[in-house]
Amino acid sequence: MISQNAEFIKVASFEDIPLGGTKAVKLDEKRSVALFNVEGRIYATNNQCPHMGYPLTRGTVRHGVVTCDWHGRSFDLEGGGCFMTGCEDLETFPVELRNGEVWIGLENREYKRKDKHLRLLWEGLLRSDEWTIAKAIGLLQAGGVPDNEIAQVCLRHLGRHVTTEGGPDAGTKVSSLINGIKVARKYGGEEQLIALAGAARATAGKAGQRQPIKPLPPPVTWEKIEGLCRVFSRDRMVPGIERCLLTARQNDDNNDRILRLLYECVAEDYFLGFPDNLTSMACLSQIVSEFGGGAFPSTELLTHHAARRSEALRVAVHAPQPATPTCRRANV
Ligand code: FES
Repeated sequence: MISQNAEFIKVASFEDIPLGGTKAVKLDEKRSVALFNVEGRIYATNNQCPHMGYPLTRGTVRHGVVTCDWHGRSFDLEGGGCFMTGCEDLETFPVELRNGEVWIGLENREYKRKDKHLRLLWEGLLRSDEWTIAKAIGLLQAGGVPDNEIAQVCLRHLGRHVTTEGGPDAGTKVSSLINGIKVARKYGGEEQLIALAGAARATAGKAGQRQPIKPLPPPVTWEKIEGLCRVFSRDRMVPGIERCLLTARQNDDNNDRILRLLYECVAEDYFLGFPDNLTSMACLSQIVSEFGGGAFPSTELLTHHAARRSEALRVAVHAPQPATPTCRRANV
């Protein structure tokens, strides 16, 4: 059905598309339309296969169904429905023939599949599946989603990954993500997608379930949180620190103060000698300066870095002696 909102544009002459033939028409940098002549009727679809983006003009058409040449997904040319399970439908466009010219209707649609594609990215990260990660990012880019939002999904996933699975230093992964995004911003098109997908891939990995941490019931002032974090840091009470920080995160004004407090805690003398803690703090600062303090993407990443970041911190926590040497006056 032709939408009332569709704005029609001319894309080809009817004679450009021979009977049984196809034609690709570029709409802009990111979009291309596929035109199919099936028994004299013209169909118009997105030329990118919804599976992995292969050009559908290179596919095979039979009985009004196009089959992608790459992995064999089949789509109804009229409505775009996919005939395989677990595959998105194909975008189709209304077609009008006007005096031997082919016009297609482009709706003034907002991008409606953003949530679905963000979820696809998260699934790709969970499975460390670089194809799915790249596909999701490509779709999000085509929908005009800014790289900051893509990075926030990656950081939230990383927070859950490192808190439940441990493994190598999260700080390195955060740096890889941020540096990858900076590289991506220097490019356009496919190069940008490659750099962004590589950056996101650095944060991928399995993630398990965690007991949810609830904020403390009110009243809780910043002064109280600050004091308790210092005490829990000295007393090695990791869950207490996490609950305090989560409570502080309820108020955006606290984001800057949280980082300052954490720096002060890791610079206490009983943590000196464990420079990884300071490195972790630097990674957190990097996130805040890149995404803004109010948009800190992952409480889990924050609390993990702060309270249970590394083996080094745990060693410090259980060290029977202060990590700094104590000087005593010798008896002579
Ligand atoms: S890219 Fe079309 S089926 Fe995979």
